[in-house]
Amino acid sequence: MIKVSVLGYGTVGSGVVEILRENHDIIQKRVGEELQLKYVLDLRDFPGDPVEQVLVHDFQIIADDPEVQIVVETMGGLHPAYEFVKTCLERGKSVCTSNKALVAAYGPELLELAKSRNANFLFEASVGGGIPIIRPLKTSLAPDEIQEISGILNGTTNYILTKMTEEGLDFDTVLKDAQEKGYAEKDPTADVEGYDACRKIAILTSLAYGKQLDFEDIYTEGITKITKRDIAYGKKLGGKIKIFGSSRKIGDKVSAMVAPALIDAQHPLYSVDGVFNAILVKGNMVGDVMFYGQGAGKLATASAVVSDVMDCSKHVNVNINTLWDAEKLDLVPMEDARSKFFVRVSGAPEENREKVTAAFGSVQPVDGGYGDEYAFVTEEITEGAYEKAAREVGNVINKIRVQM
Ligand code: HSE
Repeated sequence: MIKVSVLGYGTVGSGVVEILRENHDIIQKRVGEELQLKYVLDLRDFPGDPVEQVLVHDFQIIADDPEVQIVVETMGGLHPAYEFVKTCLERGKSVCTSNKALVAAYGPELLELAKSRNANFLFEASVGGGIPIIRPLKTSLAPDEIQEISGILNGTTNYILTKMTEEGLDFDTVLKDAQEKGYAEKDPTADVEGYDACRKIAILTSLAYGKQLDFEDIYTEGITKITKRDIAYGKKLGGKIKIFGSSRKIGDKVSAMVAPALIDAQHPLYSVDGVFNAILVKGNMVGDVMFYGQGAGKLATASAVVSDVMDCSKHVNVNINTLWDAEKLDLVPMEDARSKFFVRVSGAPEENREKVTAAFGSVQPVDGGYGDEYAFVTEEITEGAYEKAAREVGNVINKIRVQM
């Protein structure tokens, strides 16, 4: 029998407990051994919930119990999650976490610690909720050199952009609706500013290349500046605006960013709408592979955590090697990244055409039917060239990268 404990009985933690109970038999058959929930740690009490039988308020009880071999960390936040996870690993307990902030900040250190104790530190649920992506990157795609990762990595922003596109609504109206439906947090900053997606692409890219990509080094642009007009122009161009976390191998370096992009129906992620997430991975041998599913939610995310618990159960005292060194990944400077840009400038088209061509070179005008602005798509240029031309023009309302 393998004894498991859960730190944090919130949405995901209670989902883990539910899956361990509901799917007890199938899990036991697949692992070849019974998994028993020994403790659940939470500061709160849950009167009437069966979890009361295993509920503890003191982390030391779990840390000091040699019978506990696997610990699930679903507390979220960096502290004390980091200290608790570190203590568990130091004592040879394997840890499975859904905490992307923890993984993005301390991934290499915790992996190294797990390795030194013949234990495991697994984090399938930290990216893409219930979508299997971490294990496939580590195993199924291991023979390949990863050329590109492109992901719709945040359900909240995908929901907002989908609704703005389908119903012609503005950002603030849809955000409010998303908050009412529980799809967006009361403080939506981490989602709408792209910080959540940034940590996720940092984790995926670090795993793909085996070196640390600090999320602070990734250029990150959210969706708060996307307006009804941007969406309408996108439709005119036969496309949709999505927000991607992406990274691409360029020579010996990697370019990474989080930003909205205009894509057309040819793009494999075009039809990923609503709260769904999807990740497109390009391997140099396997070609394009897509992963699609629920990027959040109690049972979807908990299912990914339990898959890690089962993996740990099959690797007791055996470290599953994960290549992710603390050495920093070599990033392409943002100003050298290349893209086409959709750009809107204020003022009537006839006032802008000449100076836009002088600054950007040849562009494709887009007629949105508005007399008070001029919109166009550039050729593929560098970010640096875009910034320089935008400064020269001086009256840019918005720009969106184009992948079509
Ligand atoms: N807030 C995240 C999302 C949840 O909207 O996708 C999972 O990280």
